[in-house]
Amino acid sequence: GRVSLWGGRFAGGPADALAALSKSTHFDWRLAGQDVAGSKAHAKVLHAAGLLDDDELDGMLAALERLREDVASGAFVAADDDEDVHTALERGLIERAGPELGGKLRAGRSRNDQIATLTRMYLRDEARTIAGLVLDVVDALIEQAAAHPGAAMPGRTHLQHAQPVLLAHHLLAHAWPLLRDVDRFIDWDVRAARSPYGSGALAGSSLGLDPAAVAAELGFDGPVENSIDGTASRDVVAEFAFVAAMLGVDLSRLSEEVILWATKEFGFVRLHDSYSTGSSIMPQKKNPDVAELARGKAGRLIGDLSGLLATLKGLPLAYNRDLQEDKEPVFDQVDTLEVLLPAFSGMVATLEFDTERMASLAPQGFSLATDVAEWLVREGVPFRVAHEVAGACVRVCEERGIELWDLSDDDLAGISEHLTPGVRDVLSVEGSLASRDAVGGTAPVRVAEQLETAKERSAEY
Ligand code: ARG
Repeated sequence: GRVSLWGGRFAGGPADALAALSKSTHFDWRLAGQDVAGSKAHAKVLHAAGLLDDDELDGMLAALERLREDVASGAFVAADDDEDVHTALERGLIERAGPELGGKLRAGRSRNDQIATLTRMYLRDEARTIAGLVLDVVDALIEQAAAHPGAAMPGRTHLQHAQPVLLAHHLLAHAWPLLRDVDRFIDWDVRAARSPYGSGALAGSSLGLDPAAVAAELGFDGPVENSIDGTASRDVVAEFAFVAAMLGVDLSRLSEEVILWATKEFGFVRLHDSYSTGSSIMPQKKNPDVAELARGKAGRLIGDLSGLLATLKGLPLAYNRDLQEDKEPVFDQVDTLEVLLPAFSGMVATLEFDTERMASLAPQGFSLATDVAEWLVREGVPFRVAHEVAGACVRVCEERGIELWDLSDDDLAGISEHLTPGVRDVLSVEGSLASRDAVGGTAPVRVAEQLETAKERSAEY
């Protein structure tokens, strides 16, 4: 017959259909290590409260350690009729410690405070791993930026040529959001570092157990302040899901650019053979699959967040079984990111930029028109007038099919008396770049400083 945790009140076991619906071992088994660690900590507070004597504590810890080893080696696995990881591990404990001793561990705790605690423990570990993998992407971007200190490219707004920028500046613009994602995981951890253990089913424990001792044992900063909140809230899980989704979006935006840059029309990058794929029918193809999968998986990461928020919306306090649905979305995010990020950093690290092509396109599309207007401002012309004059230059060039620097002295003077030949100083990519020299600007001196700052930031973690 099916083993259940609530035998006393029920005449028979659950229907097969309910058991199948209820079952979560196929996804919550990954929390088995945390579950055993929680049980060891719980055994110690039972002992401290006088509910286990010294021998019982030793026997309990020894049995739990054997259980931990058997889980790690695969010798102990969930059985078909174990409902969840907690049920399965209680069975495993009783098999190792005997029903008398094994049956004592459940006092003063509930699967409600257990699962809330184990999920936090798991996510805190995985957040560290993911943050490390994000920093690998950041470092790949930093190295690419450092390898191309003077390379110019067309900076875009609305995907149209806007103003020339340094390639290094553009690459670092993708590094900063990723560094903030790492910061977000670190900030999140402050809130995740409170342990719900000891909250019991919802109202706390009457057995004199010390939640602070369990919290310390499990690496938390302290226990939750409110046992109802501890068992019922999942905002900490949802916040993790948001950071994971944001990270996915940040990777996806860079992916979109890599995909564009790798087209014949852009021709800005070549993907390394080991980070691109071919076609089974078209022999010439080299496809940016890593970037496309990153872009696609961003949708999935967002879906995990949305699904979780939808599950939480409208749940009354305290624990509801709906909350069992909190785990698969974040587990999926963890698995998705841990397989995606190593491929992504490899792709970035091996991108080969056609810097000549990028530089030659940088001044096209009249991207120096703003420089003309700002040169006029420095000559004392009001910006409203300067904008008109620079616009008139573009119109004349467009009519004649020439570029701004092709205008003769006479052409310039004919457009405006303010346009003396001195304006030519800013009609070059180098002049334009060098002039944007305030903090955060694209001038090579500033970008060199920015690169150092980014390196320091990345090395701080
Ligand atoms: N497996 C459940 C979950 O993941 C924990 C068990 C709580 N079940 C219960 N009937 N109170 O949320």
